[in-house]
Amino acid sequence: FLEVLVADYAGFCFGVTRAVKKAKEAPKPIASLGSLIHNRLVVEELAREGVKPVASLEEVDCGRVLIRSHGVSPDVLEVAREKGLEVIDATCPYVARAQHLAQKLAREGYQVVIVGEASHPEVKGLLGWAGPGAVVVSDREEAELLPYYPRRAVLAQTTQPEEKLAEVAAVLRTKTDTLVVHNTVCHATRRRQEAAVDLARRVDVMLVVGGRESANTRHLAELCRTTGTPTYHIETAGELCRQWFINARRVGVTGGASTPAWIIEEVVVMLAEQEKLMVPEGEREPEKGP
Ligand code: F3S
Repeated sequence: FLEVLVADYAGFCFGVTRAVKKAKEAPKPIASLGSLIHNRLVVEELAREGVKPVASLEEVDCGRVLIRSHGVSPDVLEVAREKGLEVIDATCPYVARAQHLAQKLAREGYQVVIVGEASHPEVKGLLGWAGPGAVVVSDREEAELLPYYPRRAVLAQTTQPEEKLAEVAAVLRTKTDTLVVHNTVCHATRRRQEAAVDLARRVDVMLVVGGRESANTRHLAELCRTTGTPTYHIETAGELCRQWFINARRVGVTGGASTPAWIIEEVVVMLAEQEKLMVPEGEREPEKGP
């Protein structure tokens, strides 16, 4: 029989829960600027309820627009206002904090350095708040390439590892007279990753549930694989394959920050139905150390 354990932190983070709630509560129809979250099933469900994803404001001439948890730059908000659109802002409060810090620091004369992925929508939005001199670096090597600048402030995309922010800050200290460091990293990502790795070490097979286009879900799966435990990234319970569990006693399940609880639950139920047994994590035997 299989014992099924769900990671302590799995599925929707606070910001995504809040954005989906705002989308559901908003009057319809409403345009969502970009996919609300990286989960096809949730986006399809919302579309049926009248939330239509659009790539840019050019596609919206009237009505309402929803800003997703990643946030947008101030000029996008300005265009929406000029068009007379009602803006429903679901920017995650942690992202909004980073945006306001970036704006304040730029106004105080700092060059703002953002640690993150330049192509990520959150970083594109942050850049807009951080003033014309702002730059994005993805790691310490890129920070090494920056020239001397007297006053700098460094902050991070919310989903970056804290170590990366510290590494970039250490490099910039050698190229700057005054360096201000703001830790804008959100712990939701770290918590999910630590809980997933901890669980992967204790099971025979690990399942990571979430959209294939979700970078944070793919990264969770990669981290679980580093433990040596066979790990499968699935989008839905329908992809579960009996073969994976031959000789397995314990199966771990986790989900990325864009995976709703009901999809994780379906996977757990499917495993339990197949094997006619499920033991909730709280009732499992205490672990013996390695
Ligand atoms: Fe917000 Fe953190 Fe989620 S910044 S959107 S709670 S990963």
